[in-house]
Amino acid sequence: MLSLLRQLLKDILQKFGLKVAILFLLMILAGLLDGLGMILLLPLFNLIGVTTNEVGLIHVFMERLVSFFGFSMDIKSVVAFIILAFLIQALLVITKDWLMARVETVYVDEWRSCLMKLFLNASWPFFVKNKLGSLVNLIVVQTEQVGRAFFGFAELMVAIFMVTIYVLLSFIISWEFTFFLITASALFWVICLFPFVKLSYKSGTKYTEFLDTMQVIATDYISSAKLIKATGTEKTALNNFGKALYKVKEEYFKATFFPHALKVLMEFSAIIFLCSFLLIGVKYLGVQAGVILVLLGIFFRMVPKLFHAYSSLQLLGRFLPSFARISMYQCNAITSSENLDTRDVATRKFSKSLDISIDKVTVSYDKKIVLSNFSVKIPPYQTLGIIGGSGAGKTTLVDCILGLIKPESGQIRINDIVLDEISLSEWRRSIGYVTQETVLFHDTVGANIKWGNEDVSDSELFDAAKKAYAHDFIQSLPNGYDTIVGDKGVCLSGGQRQRLALARALLGQPALLIFDEATNSLDSISEKEVLDAIYRLKMHITIIMISHRLSTLKNAEKIIVLGQGGIVDEGTWHDLESRSEHISEVLKTPGG
Ligand SMILES: Nc1ncnc2c1ncn2[C@@H]1O[C@H](COP(=O)(O)OP(=O)(O)O)[C@@H](O)[C@H]1O
Ligand SMILES: [Mg+2]
Repeated sequence: MLSLLRQLLKDILQKFGLKVAILFLLMILAGLLDGLGMILLLPLFNLIGVTTNEVGLIHVFMERLVSFFGFSMDIKSVVAFIILAFLIQALLVITKDWLMARVETVYVDEWRSCLMKLFLNASWPFFVKNKLGSLVNLIVVQTEQVGRAFFGFAELMVAIFMVTIYVLLSFIISWEFTFFLITASALFWVICLFPFVKLSYKSGTKYTEFLDTMQVIATDYISSAKLIKATGTEKTALNNFGKALYKVKEEYFKATFFPHALKVLMEFSAIIFLCSFLLIGVKYLGVQAGVILVLLGIFFRMVPKLFHAYSSLQLLGRFLPSFARISMYQCNAITSSENLDTRDVATRKFSKSLDISIDKVTVSYDKKIVLSNFSVKIPPYQTLGIIGGSGAGKTTLVDCILGLIKPESGQIRINDIVLDEISLSEWRRSIGYVTQETVLFHDTVGANIKWGNEDVSDSELFDAAKKAYAHDFIQSLPNGYDTIVGDKGVCLSGGQRQRLALARALLGQPALLIFDEATNSLDSISEKEVLDAIYRLKMHITIIMISHRLSTLKNAEKIIVLGQGGIVDEGTWHDLESRSEHISEVLKTPGG
């Protein structure tokens, strides 16, 4: 826990060194003024006739202070000074709280944008490995908890400082009394406190973990609501969610109840300590009534600070595990980050004439070889058709071309430059990519098509939509291009979603178009329309067309049949059509 705290501090100091220094300065000043205000009560008591002769030094100091400002030492001046001290102290405390809240807010904000940036910069395998809900939970929930941990720590420092000031003050006023009262109560509380702090750290670690599991399940189930409803499996979903919820609930309960229980215990013990030491102070140590009054004042100001220190420590214990979690994901994301733009030819814009060469590429997942020594060439402006059964490695090949996964061996060259040396973002911006599961954002039709090309004109937008046979149906929607498509496009049919995706791909004026089983969910009329649209682009750009039906690939110059990690057959559509029985066999075999 301590090393984690050190890391958190280092991180905050790096980001807000100056602000934290000002924070501590304000805190010290506020503490000193508070002390001054309290100590001024002694001369006040003296002036109103309660004897406090143990405080000669303070009296002299006060007299000097009052005369320095040109006042005489009477009740009015002393009261005015007391009020002034507490007023300035209150202003300092408000400034400190404002600064603290600012630092916390900016800190959370910086973590959020840093995580989002790191995640989006991470390579594709990072997303395959990590759960969607966990990543969302980190950005939304855990960051806020790290902010709370920082707040807890700062508050703890404030409280410790204030308590120290009070202890010092009461030592100056009456060391014997203070020694008994403060030392004994502090000792008792520290002994009581530590097991509870440990407990809250442990519970905090579990809470962070369980909250993550709960979020993963909630994200999964809510985004699969259609399946759950269509299959009538609400009960199964609720059961599983309930189990995750139960764990979170138990830890939340502990974290909420224990601090309250301990607070009651501390309040009760404070009264016991106070009563017994008052008795000892007056009866055995002969402490004067005025001094007792001031010490009581100090004690009553100090006790809430002690409680505050305790609850801040609890806060810290509970939320520090979030910092551990965030740091871990930060490291993972950095390790798997992609060099999107720092490559030699970062600003290179790809011309439409692309010469793609895939040379002896091998890819495997968990030692299972998917592509083995795979080679193919795609000359400029050609259309390559790829056919293969489910699991043959078609999408894997596309992922390699997109640079989403790195082959274990072999090379992919674009216009004779190895993909590793090309700016990945520039390369990907030159590609129009349409997949079987169309990805649409919860936004308008227009915004979805324009995604990544926000500054195109309306006529360009309509043109792309027309080419994708989408313009007519979009115009018939209630708000045309301003219609909201719903989460992942739920308000549209599969074919309509696909056509929007095609329009988006075309709007980017790509040099390479990749269709990964993109026309699968279209009815035959729509499919023909979309295929016509695609093939009208033929000879203007390079196209890779993946399908598990030969009929879709009629217009490709070359078709390769993927199976067993490599090419099992190739030729034109006519060649393969004549061997269609053999191809049907290949498509049926697993991984073929
Ligand atoms: N991220 C992954 N981790 C492990 N195995 C994977 C991963 N992605 C794909 N695979 C496996 O690799 C094989 C090829 O997958 P894929 O390229 O998606 O096939 P296709 O697109 O031809 O249907 C499949 O057996 C699949 O289970
Ligand atoms: Mg696939």
